[in-house]
Amino acid sequence: MNDEAFTSTQHAPGLRARLVVLVLAVLIPAVMTAGLLMWTVYRQQRQSVERQMTETARALSLVVDREIGQKEVLLEALASSPYLLTNDWAAFDAQARQATRRGDTWVVVFDADGLQRVNTRLPLGAPLPKGAGRAPGLTWSQTDNGRMQVSNVFHGSVAKEYIVSFNVPVERPNARPLILAAGATASSFGQVWMDQHFPQSWTGTIADARNVVVSRSRNDDGMVGRSASPVMAEHIRRQLSGVAETTTLDGVPSVTAWSRSPDYGWAFIVAAPRSEIAGQARQSLFWGVALGAAFLGLGAILAIYAARSFAKPVERLAAAALAWTEKRPPAPFPTGTREIDALAAALSEAGTKVADQRAELLNLNASLEVRVAERTRELAEATENLAQAQKMEAIGRLTGGVAHDFNNLLMAVLGNLDLLSRRLTEPRHLRYVDQARAAGERGAKLTGQLLAFSRRQRLEVKAMDIGEAVGAAAALLRSTVGAAHRLEVEVAPDLWPAFGDATQVELMVVNLALNARDAMGAGGVVAIAASNVTIADRAPRGEAPSVGDYVMIAVSDTGEGMTPEVVARVFEPFFTTKPVGKGSGLGLPQVLGLAKQLGGGVEIDTAPGQGSTVRVYLPRAEALGGLESAGEIAPDAAILKGVRVLLVDDDVRVRSVTAQMLQDLGCRVSLAESGEQALERMREDSDLRAALVDFAMPGLSGGETAVGLRWERPDFPVVIMTGYADLEELAETWSGPVMHKPFSMLDLARQMARVISE
Ligand SMILES: Nc1ncnc2c1ncn2[C@@H]1O[C@H](COP(=O)(O)OP(=O)(O)OP(=O)(O)O)[C@@H](O)[C@H]1O
Ligand SMILES: [Mg+2]
Repeated sequence: MNDEAFTSTQHAPGLRARLVVLVLAVLIPAVMTAGLLMWTVYRQQRQSVERQMTETARALSLVVDREIGQKEVLLEALASSPYLLTNDWAAFDAQARQATRRGDTWVVVFDADGLQRVNTRLPLGAPLPKGAGRAPGLTWSQTDNGRMQVSNVFHGSVAKEYIVSFNVPVERPNARPLILAAGATASSFGQVWMDQHFPQSWTGTIADARNVVVSRSRNDDGMVGRSASPVMAEHIRRQLSGVAETTTLDGVPSVTAWSRSPDYGWAFIVAAPRSEIAGQARQSLFWGVALGAAFLGLGAILAIYAARSFAKPVERLAAAALAWTEKRPPAPFPTGTREIDALAAALSEAGTKVADQRAELLNLNASLEVRVAERTRELAEATENLAQAQKMEAIGRLTGGVAHDFNNLLMAVLGNLDLLSRRLTEPRHLRYVDQARAAGERGAKLTGQLLAFSRRQRLEVKAMDIGEAVGAAAALLRSTVGAAHRLEVEVAPDLWPAFGDATQVELMVVNLALNARDAMGAGGVVAIAASNVTIADRAPRGEAPSVGDYVMIAVSDTGEGMTPEVVARVFEPFFTTKPVGKGSGLGLPQVLGLAKQLGGGVEIDTAPGQGSTVRVYLPRAEALGGLESAGEIAPDAAILKGVRVLLVDDDVRVRSVTAQMLQDLGCRVSLAESGEQALERMREDSDLRAALVDFAMPGLSGGETAVGLRWERPDFPVVIMTGYADLEELAETWSGPVMHKPFSMLDLARQMARVISE
């Protein structure tokens, strides 16, 4: 993994943080909405309470209005009493007592001087107080049109308690006016609270125009006569009715509603403890906040837990995936989350693939070195084999060329010796000639071996029984090898027929067996075996056979074996480890040349001190026979008598010796140095019966010359002579009879007699 990318992701928020944020993102607005709702509910509750209080305050004012109205009605009724016109105080007293007999109201009459004339509060006939004076707060005057006035609360001198006075002026046509007053105790207003069923905790207060308490629904001990708080007084002064937060006289923080009577200035106040109103809402608000916090906490915990349940398997997965780059992944473990399971499965699969590929790569790497080493070795071997092959080919061409020239020379030498021996009669001279011929023939054999190596020897190839050739060779070897060593021959019973030249194959087996013998001290074993073999793989060495079916001849010994250096050179002509005069170094090259010319190959299996096995492979043939050489015909020198033969050869020595041979056979010879000259002679001389033409010539080759001659005269008998240098080219251009140099006069007589007689 990229280090930089990895470190940069370490600072990124984790799954837990993200989930907590998610939960908070959902919960916080929810909690806020709930809080808002609660706040709204609180507001509505408070508003409804305030409305209720306002209404209560107004209702209170109406009740008190009615009370006061009753006083007014009473006073107005009494004001029309005739006794007042006549100052009949006793009669009025009686009337007034009659009118107020129920209830707690009493009647007082003041004259213009302010003296009491009647007072029903006192017992009948009791002396009236002198200086009681008028009730406080009365602003009554002439201009007030006789309407009733309500006094403020005051401590009555007669009643000895707080009272309120209601006054009406009474105009008299013939006398000075009077004041008719109705008195009522402040406590009489307490009845009002009985009618108002407001909650226990609320406090109702009736205050006079000076904001002095007249009556109070609860805790009115000592309150009556006290002034309302300045704050409250200020509220009442400013507005006829309203709601405000104040503190009651007994020091309770409250929400207060008030209503003031515009007629007589009294105020009706309803106070509810703030703790009660706010309490409810605050409580719900508290619970809301508490629950919200709890939900938030719970949500966060759940989120963390959920994140753990995601993060744990993901972390495990990440750790596992990292480990998987090192080793093969185990089967994916269940994480409890479908997507993560799928991820794990996918990762595991990828891991498996990576592991497989890694293993493959490792294998490849491991085998690569081996393969490189193998290939390097193969390459070196191939290069060496190629070099070896090129060397052998060069040697082959060289030896082929040398052999060709040698054959021409030997042709001249042996041909002339042949001619000489026919003309000599002295036995001593004939012995010299015979020795010279023997040496020449040894030379011819040597060139034959060289030609065999360069795969240019004349072979009479046919499908043959290899077992037969091996048997024949073994018979030859019994005396040479079998004396000092044990000779074992084993021929597989169902041996395939194979292509070969019987003489050459026999020679080859003898060659190999002699090599085996030479490698062993006394008492060794030479084993010759022939068997069927199928080669499936081409061996790298050039000598080895290619793929196919073969009959194999294996010659093994228990001798000294060969070092690799010797093995590398044994197929080179003239390579020998034997002392001078013992080995020519042409045995194995000849074996290889033969095998290759037949389309097979050779293998050597040896090591120093381990003995050697040389295996020769000859290609399998379908059936025995075929390709048989033409049988010998008896020489009939008579046929050649007087026959005119055209001899064509660029080599003057070969030309003269061959011409002499033909003349000795009775032929008349016409000579030509080249193919062109030969065609000229052909046109001039209609006597010509046959032609003997050398193959390798400058200008027209022997083959071309033969074609030219037959173009002049179809079926004209032509024999081609060759020194072997160009056997392949010859085979391509010429299918007629061939004479291989050096040839004897006998050979020449047979060949010429055959072509002429045909
Ligand atoms: N069976 C064998 N065991 C050990 N060395 C062998 C064997 N066959 C061949 N050699 C080695 O290979 C060399 C070449 O053998 P090759 O047959 O070509 O030539 P040569 O035997 O030396 O001479 P010649 O031409 O007489 O056969 C030998 O000199 C010998 O060192
Ligand atoms: Mg040999």
